[in-house]
Amino acid sequence: MDESVRQQYLEAMGIQSWVARDPVPDAATTTVDTVSPAELPVEQLVPQEQLSAPTVQAATQQGDIAGLDWPALQARVEACRACSLHQTSTQTVFGTGNQSADLLIIGEAPGEDEDRQGEPFMGTAGQLLNAMLKAIGLNRSQVFITNILKCSPPENRDPHVDEVRSCEPFLQRQIELVRPKVILAMGRVASQNLLKTDVAVGGLRGSEHLLRGGNIPVVVTYHPAYLLRSPDQKGKAWQDLLRTKRLL
Ligand code: URA
Repeated sequence: MDESVRQQYLEAMGIQSWVARDPVPDAATTTVDTVSPAELPVEQLVPQEQLSAPTVQAATQQGDIAGLDWPALQARVEACRACSLHQTSTQTVFGTGNQSADLLIIGEAPGEDEDRQGEPFMGTAGQLLNAMLKAIGLNRSQVFITNILKCSPPENRDPHVDEVRSCEPFLQRQIELVRPKVILAMGRVASQNLLKTDVAVGGLRGSEHLLRGGNIPVVVTYHPAYLLRSPDQKGKAWQDLLRTKRLL
C-alpha cells in the first residue's frame, strides 16, 4: 500500500504514527517518536510516562494490522510476541460475542479465569457484567466484549505502558471491524487508555466522550470488579447503563 494512503488510513483510525529516531542503532530496543503532547487538547494529554518507549516492533506491527479481517486479526493476536506477556499467559483472550454488535464493551485485561478459559469476563466480575447487561435487555451474544490487553498480566497486576502500546493496534482494528454505535469502557485502565487521559473514572463518567479520531460515543463506567468491592457505587453504574441504552 502506498505510504501516504497508509498514513491517512492510520490517522483516520486514530492510530498514532511513529517515526524511528535517526539513526536506529538497535531495532529491538530503540525508542521511537510519538505525537507531541502539544498537539493534543489538554483533556486528552497522555501522561508523560505513557508516551515513552514503544518499540520499533510495535510500530511496525501497527502498520500492517490495518486491513486484516477477523480470522487474520485473531491469528495475529495469537501469534503476537510484541511484549513479554505471551511468556506468562496460558493463551490469548481475543474477545467474544457479536462481531457486528451495536455495543462494544472494553475491559482491562484477562484475569486468571479468563486466561484459563480464553474468554473475557468469565469470573465473578463477568457474572456481574452479565447481570448489568441483562438489566438493559442485552446478553453476551448480542454485544462484543474485549479488553485493552489480550494477554493476562501475571498476578493480576496493572498493565504496563509498553504492553498497552503493543496491544493497541489489535483493539483499534477490532473497533474498526465491529463499527459499534457505542463503546462502554469499564474501569480506569480501559477508559484512560481509550480516551488518552489520566482523569479518574469518577471524573470521566457522566459526560459525553468521543473516541479520538472517530465519532463513536464512549460511555465510561466503573469496572464490575470495583463494583463488587464497592456495591454502593452500583447506582452510578446503573445511570451509565441507562446512558448507554439511550445512545443505542
Ligand atoms: N477484568 C477485565 O477487565 N477483563 C476481563 O476479561 C476479566 C476481568
